[in-house]
Amino acid sequence: MSSAKRILLIIGGGIAAYKCLELIRRLRDCGHAVRAVMTKAAHQFVTPLSVGALTNERVLTDLFDLDDEREIGHIRLARDHDLILVAPATADLLARMAGGHADDLATAVLLATDKPVLVAPAMNPAMWLNPATQRNVAQLKADGIRFVGPGVGEMAERGEAGPGRLVEVPELIEAIENLLAPETETQTTGDLAGRHVIVTSGPTHEPIDPVRYLANRSSGKQGFELAAAARELGARVTLITGPVSLSPPQGVDVVRVKTAAEMLEAVQAALPADIAVFAAAVADWRIETPNVEKIKKGDGKSAPTLRLTENPDILKTVAQPGSMRPRLVIGFAAETEDVLGYAKKKLKSKRADWIIANDVSPATGIMGGENNTVHVVTAGTVESWPEMSKAKVARKIMMRAAEHLHAKRTAAE
Ligand code: C5P
Repeated sequence: MSSAKRILLIIGGGIAAYKCLELIRRLRDCGHAVRAVMTKAAHQFVTPLSVGALTNERVLTDLFDLDDEREIGHIRLARDHDLILVAPATADLLARMAGGHADDLATAVLLATDKPVLVAPAMNPAMWLNPATQRNVAQLKADGIRFVGPGVGEMAERGEAGPGRLVEVPELIEAIENLLAPETETQTTGDLAGRHVIVTSGPTHEPIDPVRYLANRSSGKQGFELAAAARELGARVTLITGPVSLSPPQGVDVVRVKTAAEMLEAVQAALPADIAVFAAAVADWRIETPNVEKIKKGDGKSAPTLRLTENPDILKTVAQPGSMRPRLVIGFAAETEDVLGYAKKKLKSKRADWIIANDVSPATGIMGGENNTVHVVTAGTVESWPEMSKAKVARKIMMRAAEHLHAKRTAAE
C-alpha cells in the first residue's frame, strides 16, 4: 500500500455514485485524505452532506462559488492533490473531458491539473459502446488519462447487461494504489516496456439460474503468474479473469468477469494489444436459456433437463487475421489424453501462433497445483519443458514472447 496521499474525488451524476460513500471510507481507512467535488447531476444521486461527513471536508460544486475560489481556487485544487479520481464518470462527463470543457468546477479542475487522473466509467452498455463514447475514451487514453473498468455484468436497469458497471470498491482501491505506488509507475525499461499484454485467466461461470452455475476446476494461478511476469518485464497488462480467489499482481489492470460472453466482450474492449495469452479455462458450453428464478424441486417432479449451447471461442475470435489481431497470440491446451496431438490441431484450427499444452489428468495435480509441465507447440516446433513452478513457466513464456516480438521488429527493419 502507498503512504498517505491526497486524493481529489470527482463524483459524476450516475446511479453508481452511492458506491463513492464506501470508497471514501475505505480510502480514509488506508490513511488517505479525500476531498470531493460533485457535479450538479451528482446531487441527484448522493447528497453533499453525506459525502462531506465522510470526507470531513466541505464538498465543492460550483466554479463561481467565490468563497471556494478565495479559499483555495480551482487551480490550487487541481494541483494540491496526488491523484484525481473521477467516479462514476458518465458518458457526458467523459465527452466534456475529451472536449477540454471547463464550464463547471469538475471539468475546470480536470483541465488545470498536472496530476495523474484515473477515470472509472459507469453508464448503460449502449452508451459505453456508442462510437462517440469510444472516440472520447480513445482520446482521453491518448491524453494519458488512466481508466479502471467499466466492469461487465448486470446493470441497475432490470434486463440490461454488458460493459458499463462501475468497478467495485476493492478494484477501485487497487487501481488507485497501483497509480500511487512509485514502484509501479509506468516502466520505461524491461523487455516488454511499451507493450500491452492481455491475459485471460480462471474459469468461467455459466448460470443455470440465479443461484447455480456450470464451472470447472481452474484456479487461475497460471494466468495470474503470466500477468505478473509480463508486468515484471515492463508491459502494461490487462488481466481478464473469471471468478477466482487470488489477489491480482501489483500494477496490473484487472477486469473481473463471470461468463464466457462477458470475457469475450472484455477482451475486445481491451484491444489493441501486442500479445494476448489465453490461459482461461473457458466453459465450452452455457445453458441456452438460464432460468430467471431459482429452479425448484418438487414431489414427483422429474429432474430438469439442461439444454446447452456452445460458447464463443475467444481465442479463435481474436486470432482471426485483421487489424486488431495482436502480433503474438498464445493459447493453452489443457488435455487429459493425446496432449500433443490435440495441441497441434488447436494451433491450426484456432490460428494461434503458439499453444502451451499440458496434461491436466487428476494424477498430474496441475489443476489448482503450484507446478506445471508444458510443451510449447508452434507451427514447426514442439519443445517440452521439465516440470517447474507456474511462476517460472510464466516468466519463460513471457521472456520468449519478448524475444519473438523483438526478432519480428528487427526483421521488419
Ligand atoms: O477449451 P480448449 O481446449 O479449446 O481451449 C484452448 C484454448 O482456447 C485456451 O487457450 C482457451 O483459453 C481458449 N478458449 C477460448 N474460448 C473458448 C474456449 C477456449 O478462448 N470458448
